[in-house]
Amino acid sequence: MSAALLINFAYVVASALFIFGLKLLGSPASARRGNFISAVGMLIAVVAALLDQGIVEYHWIAIGVVVGSIIGALSARMVAMTSMPEMVALFNGFGGLASLLVGWAVLYEGDLGLFTLITVALSILIGGVTFTGSVVAWGKLAEVMPSKALVFSGQQVVNGLLVLGIVASAVMFCLEPNDHTWLYVLIALSFLFGIMAVIPIGGADMPVVISLLNSYSGLAACAAGFAINNMILIVAGSLVGASGIILTQIMCRAMNRSLGNVLFSGFGSVSTASTAIEGEVRPIEAQDAYYVLEAASCVAVIPGYGMAVAQAQHAVKELQELLEENGCEVLYGIHPVAGRMPGHMNVLLAEADVSYDLLLEMDEINARMPTVDVAIVIGANDVVNPAAREMESSPIYGMPVINVDQARTVFVLKRSMASGFAGVDNPLFFKENTRMLFGDAKESINHVVREFE
Ligand code: TAP
Repeated sequence: MSAALLINFAYVVASALFIFGLKLLGSPASARRGNFISAVGMLIAVVAALLDQGIVEYHWIAIGVVVGSIIGALSARMVAMTSMPEMVALFNGFGGLASLLVGWAVLYEGDLGLFTLITVALSILIGGVTFTGSVVAWGKLAEVMPSKALVFSGQQVVNGLLVLGIVASAVMFCLEPNDHTWLYVLIALSFLFGIMAVIPIGGADMPVVISLLNSYSGLAACAAGFAINNMILIVAGSLVGASGIILTQIMCRAMNRSLGNVLFSGFGSVSTASTAIEGEVRPIEAQDAYYVLEAASCVAVIPGYGMAVAQAQHAVKELQELLEENGCEVLYGIHPVAGRMPGHMNVLLAEADVSYDLLLEMDEINARMPTVDVAIVIGANDVVNPAAREMESSPIYGMPVINVDQARTVFVLKRSMASGFAGVDNPLFFKENTRMLFGDAKESINHVVREFE
């Protein structure tokens, strides 16, 4: 078999592994295998691509694999589960920057045709926007910069001018590729546009933005793939581009908002000053909560970001087992945007060995809610906020939520009356059938578990 044929064969195998891996990522039960299979596909793709280009010696490939693997393994070990979205933001950003550099490097290959120049301009433009946009998204999530939406008058005009400048410099670059001035202008404007596009978006919308930037990083890689005429980069870039946009769409639907609304509405810029909520807060002690749970025959657990913070998943599993021993049915209701990243709750509960069969999606658990004796809300807030259904003036009005207030009794486990990520007050805490079990979620559950034992 000739070398070129062997490399093409490796590309086809890698592409198949990517697609198969993505398919397995669709279910929590097979996600780990999917991740591993995709990683093997990527290893094959990287090695084959480097051999294909014929520009590096084997030892450089080996060094790259070792250094990359060490950085990847260390960051995967060291980054806390709650900071995963920040890490994904940085990964996307570096993906975009890599595509920009690949596009730039192509310019040193000598005379380039118009098609190649256009793909170089696209990989620089999309890569540059993805890089700075992702860094801003990271900054908002890591709170190294204000996570509020930053809006000012004339913002749309400034952005419009930036887009015009980008188009003009890209055209000039394609017409005069040997004059690198236009290249530098294009890079600078793309960087600036990435920043300007993300600053008017509030922290609460960052997951959607990160997913969108993930899609952009795929498109940038795809353009770079055309620029260097590399099939596997085109395939991998298209897959990332398509899956990123699908995930973006899923998240927007889960919040009942359009992508345009997420990108341009400045959600989170206005202070979401509370409309006074009437009612009384009724706290409960763990011991009394135990008496209610002991008599329940159906309990629904609704986890949220606070469960991740408290690392309460193992305690939750313990409580589930005790309730089941007591003849009670236990179900989990998982909101698509509970926590801080897609699948956040699934990952935590899988870590505690909670059976996937018990995890119900929002619609399924909502259908069961009127027959649930106790809904235990563990560190969730926005995703169970009935204001999304009841208060037209609420910024989250229209967002589909888990209707815990329809259960006979609701226990809300959190430390204070503080609002959630969207900064919106929650009338659930004041409802007649709600009892607030204040304190760290893990400690509160452990307390109830001790009462059971
Ligand atoms: P949030 O609305 O953010 O509420 C989490 C609650 O957990 C807080 O009110 C907090 O109250 C409580 N908490 C924090 N630490 C705790 C601890 N140690 N023990 C007990 N409670 C604790 O969470 P959610 O309901 O999961 O909603 C997710 C929100 O994040 C939505 O607004 C969503 O749009 C947004 N978002 C989602 C994603 C994805 S894709 N999942 C990504 C980013 C943002 P106290 O401080 O009073 O304890």
